[in-house]
Amino acid sequence: MNNQPVRRVLTGMRTTGSLHLGHYVGALKLWIDAQKTDSECFFLLADVQALTTHAENSALIRNSVTEVVLDWIAAGIDPTRKNVNFVLQSDVKARADLSLYFMMIAKFGEVERNPTVKDEMRGNRNPSMGFLTYPVDQAADIYMISPVNSVGNRLLIPVGADQAPHLEYSRELARRFNSMYNTDIFLPCTAEIGEIGRLVGIDGQEKMSKSKGNAIDLSDSSEEVTRKIMKMYTDPNRKRATDPGKVEGNPMFMYFDAFADDKEEVAEYKKLYQKGKVGDVPLKQRLAKIINNVLEPMRERRLEAEKLPLGDIVRVGTARASEISEEVVEKARVSMGLGYPR
Ligand code: TRP
Repeated sequence: MNNQPVRRVLTGMRTTGSLHLGHYVGALKLWIDAQKTDSECFFLLADVQALTTHAENSALIRNSVTEVVLDWIAAGIDPTRKNVNFVLQSDVKARADLSLYFMMIAKFGEVERNPTVKDEMRGNRNPSMGFLTYPVDQAADIYMISPVNSVGNRLLIPVGADQAPHLEYSRELARRFNSMYNTDIFLPCTAEIGEIGRLVGIDGQEKMSKSKGNAIDLSDSSEEVTRKIMKMYTDPNRKRATDPGKVEGNPMFMYFDAFADDKEEVAEYKKLYQKGKVGDVPLKQRLAKIINNVLEPMRERRLEAEKLPLGDIVRVGTARASEISEEVVEKARVSMGLGYPR
């Protein structure tokens, strides 16, 4: 045994279709930084969690796995790095066991109170049982590769802001398990929440989301991006370019803030806009250019990624997660009193 601290990063996305700019600014940027550290990274293709809302659409789940892998690589996640693993959730068998074990120590009332679940429930009037319990299941994603709870070890979870309640709850489950069974199996995770939690959609109404039809996809062509930006919602009370415009809450400026490197340039546009000295159209044209500059390297990387043996990449990453999780979950099983007494 060596005494090197164990540092791991785990995070994931549901495989329910192609990814958009909201995924990029909310989560993927953090992931890209995480892979550059000396931590071993596990990026989870959450196909089981995708079923919590899309069980009737197996074709979507199946096709989305490759789509998400390509989007990740395009965005700059590099699976050829030694410390990077792409993990297919449904293929880590021990994970399902751990999920069921956590269900036994999680309380119904706690899950009912989860603010993200409550929020998501408003759009889902007849949720599946899997949907209701997904924060518990997600704890199994996290702790299946947990280092033991000792000083120096680390389990970092970079995610978008909407995931914060789930991570807090998963910490509670880890602590509860450890104290109920008097063990150090699980290291309560550390959340890393992105600066820009949510990106509003081009409709300016809700967070960017494929199902709302207000998304700019990472795989959109430059013409598509420009077309979407040009019809983007801005200040509804501004009729002419000479009217003073509102900057706060204006999606166009939220996008400038999120994507423009040159903050002075953006400050200047805001000033002109507030004074009624610049129209929406030239600003939108500039914004489309800025966003296309972010997406252009992704388009190039995607072409390269299409030549990679993606199936093998996912198999190798999944095998690594399985190897660790079998050991962790076996310890959990024994501490709970399961298995024939030895
Ligand atoms: N619930 C996350 C989302 O919708 C995806 C996810 C699944 C995840 N398992 C995870 C995130 C484990 C972090 C850790 O974005």
